[in-house]
Amino acid sequence: MTDLFEKLRMDADPLAKYSHLPDDYFFFPKLEGDIGPRMRFNGKEVLNWSLNNYLGLANHPEVRKADAEATAKYGLAAPMGARMMSGNSVHHLEFEKQLAAFVKKEDAMLLNYGYQGVLSIIDSLVDRKDVIVYDSESHACIIDGVRLHMGKRFVYPHNNMENLEKQLQRATKLADETGGGILVITEGVFGMSGHMGDLKGIVELKKKYNFRLFVDDAHGFGTMGKTGAGVGEEQGVQDQIDLYFSTFAKSMASIGAFVAGDKRILKYLRYTVRSQIYAKSLPLPLVLGGLKRLELLKTKPELRENLRKIMGAVKSGLKERGFNVGDAQSPPTPVLFKGGVGEAANMAMDLRENFNIFCSVVIYPVVPKDVIMFRIIPTAAHTMSDVAETLTAFSALKEKLDKGYYRKEELVSVTR
Ligand SMILES: Cc1ncc(COP(=O)(O)O)c(C=O)c1O
Repeated sequence: MTDLFEKLRMDADPLAKYSHLPDDYFFFPKLEGDIGPRMRFNGKEVLNWSLNNYLGLANHPEVRKADAEATAKYGLAAPMGARMMSGNSVHHLEFEKQLAAFVKKEDAMLLNYGYQGVLSIIDSLVDRKDVIVYDSESHACIIDGVRLHMGKRFVYPHNNMENLEKQLQRATKLADETGGGILVITEGVFGMSGHMGDLKGIVELKKKYNFRLFVDDAHGFGTMGKTGAGVGEEQGVQDQIDLYFSTFAKSMASIGAFVAGDKRILKYLRYTVRSQIYAKSLPLPLVLGGLKRLELLKTKPELRENLRKIMGAVKSGLKERGFNVGDAQSPPTPVLFKGGVGEAANMAMDLRENFNIFCSVVIYPVVPKDVIMFRIIPTAAHTMSDVAETLTAFSALKEKLDKGYYRKEELVSVTR
């Protein structure tokens, strides 16, 4: 027998094992100032590429005004209680109606948080007879939802449609035996690689196999598709997505999330999604602020156009300079280098301290051991001169990496 707390070891956890690195620097850094491309970090101004504020709405004057007015009028408590009991309002219902119409679904339901919402939706949809089939690169909220599932689950290699078909054959055989159904889960845009989920390919398989499709479009909502309605719209298959989900934590620059689909299934979810039934509803300022954000998303296509312009310039600029940025056609832009964790830390620090650029760096176990991934998140609020500054800095970084400069044991520069 062992003491429970004694056995919890920082070095045994994939992320906690890096906790010896300077506190508040690589992990839990404090970005200060108004949200946008220029913020303060570690005592100085940095050019910031690490926020999912895709449309630049976080600091849009109309958004700030709506948030402030709603907070002044209602405070942060209202309405009290879970939606089902005492936490409903006409504004919640109106927001749901507008979200559903925007993503071309019959109905929608608000969720307090994306992560909990996805987990709980999966939990409410399947029982032990059912089979889940999901993409291997899925976000933690999908993985954790799948972990709750008491029945069978099959994973297919990221976006591999041939393999998905094999998994669907296995799933169909099993479901035929148990009398259960099949749920396929993917993301619209995968937040790390920026790849779009192959929704078209998945939907094509609906002709041969009987399954329901749940799409987490956290990074596609507001950024992809002609009107910003997401990857389903982008690929012309929105009507084939049975449940469409997005968080408000990205394009909408807020907190909360929603799920949309047919009326019947939404009614079922309202009565069964435990993260909503057993939790207080979204505060009114988030609902009214959300309505304002949705209005801007619908009426200001120039925000999406600017995002596209910045995204295009970042991707093509890096490609022209010989960087490996993958082949993603969506905003998250990975920049891949060969190197170890020590080099990654040194590079990130050099970028922050000497080039004044703040960009998240992703290391093992999220990427393979010898890969360093910087993740650039273009937004509508960035400018072409921000892009030029960044391209110059990345070129300098690459040259130093190639010369072995970042292989030193000690960190390149000291934090203040
Ligand atoms: C794909 C995906 N799904 C769900 C979530 C979770 O959303 P939330 O931050 O609202 O919990 C995130 C990250 O925020 C995400 O990237």
